[in-house]
Amino acid sequence: MDLLVRHIGRLHSMVGDSSTGLTTDAALVVRGGQVAWIGPEAAVSAAVGGIDLPEVDAGGAVVVPGFVDAHTHLIWAGTRREEFVARLAGQAYDGGGIRTTVAATRAASDEELLGLARARAESASRHGTTTMEIKTGYGLSPAEELRQLDVVAALADTVPMRIEPTYLGAHVVPAGADPQAYVAEVIETLPAAAEHGARWVDVFCDEGAFTVERARQILVAGRAAGLGLRLHAEEIAHTGAAGLAAELGCASADHLEHVSAEDARAMATAGVVGVLLPTVTLSLRTFAFGQYAVLRDAGVQLAVSTDCNPGTSWCESMPYAVQLACLVYGMPVADALRAATRGGAAALRRDDVGHLGVGAHADFVVLDTDHEADLVAHLGAPAVSATYAAGRRADRPSSDPAGSLR
Ligand code: NIG
Ligand code: FE
Repeated sequence: MDLLVRHIGRLHSMVGDSSTGLTTDAALVVRGGQVAWIGPEAAVSAAVGGIDLPEVDAGGAVVVPGFVDAHTHLIWAGTRREEFVARLAGQAYDGGGIRTTVAATRAASDEELLGLARARAESASRHGTTTMEIKTGYGLSPAEELRQLDVVAALADTVPMRIEPTYLGAHVVPAGADPQAYVAEVIETLPAAAEHGARWVDVFCDEGAFTVERARQILVAGRAAGLGLRLHAEEIAHTGAAGLAAELGCASADHLEHVSAEDARAMATAGVVGVLLPTVTLSLRTFAFGQYAVLRDAGVQLAVSTDCNPGTSWCESMPYAVQLACLVYGMPVADALRAATRGGAAALRRDDVGHLGVGAHADFVVLDTDHEADLVAHLGAPAVSATYAAGRRADRPSSDPAGSLR
């Protein structure tokens, strides 16, 4: 796809080491679905060189790279509304509700699961997401987990979004199972998970889920099976999971509500990206938001993601996650936007998305404002006016739909 986007009030390319790569009064040229040029509007004629490209007028709005949501559990059926209401009445979260979702998800057909996941992905697309990591984890048996990976693959064939599938067989121990026997089953399933499209393996390493030692066994075996490593760490209690992520060189450690300064320094040294999930802390009503400062001060690269799931974060909106990151962590707007784009890409070890440098995929979002601070200041407002993936409109049916990006 070729396209010329003109009259961009503020274009944040996220190119460069730390800033947002801002150009004001900018234009963007897309050739073959990739960024071919970005620069000042005044220079666009020379850049295009007389070629007649389809044009979009951004009308002075902000443009940022498409959001990279590096942590979701998109494949589920059923509801957890009773648990949510009980939490409002003071009940604490202990991960036990995951089994409620497992029962409902096992009972759903492939078509039902795909339809539910597609509706969520389309919602995410309307909120500006163009790359999404999706975990299994509501199957908890080899056959059910692989079926969920097949649903992720089918989804990737039908939505204009880049999908990163993750095998999370080690979400919790299934009811009645022996923990070590279940770990062995998860490990045996790793090669099949890779064959069914998984690029990553993740473990919920926490109180009530898997111990650090069992997580280590699974991750080491996952690496041998060719999968990249990520870890749910320090969400419910401090267990040493973040230290394990650093020891093994995981691409990311996620949640981190109970991370220590020592963990954070180890993560920074090992290049482990810290994935912050502010909607979870809000939804769990623990209001533990100190992890941001601990990680920032240690120099950990940060991502902001939704953790979209039925129990702790029913949220498809990256702008909402960005808004909360700023409001509750006190994160600067520029840093939160960078974490939601370039940071998410780093958490997925990708350099072809999350920025708008020449040669990157032309995945970008036109915000519904002329200044990005409004994304945070304007509460409850729709943030995105258009989402483009590979230079094509991705957030609504059109005569020229983007289709699969595979
Ligand atoms: O990321 N922490 C573990 N997994 C999910 C929650 C899953 C659930 O409660 O259904 C999370 O918060
Ligand atoms: Fe999660």
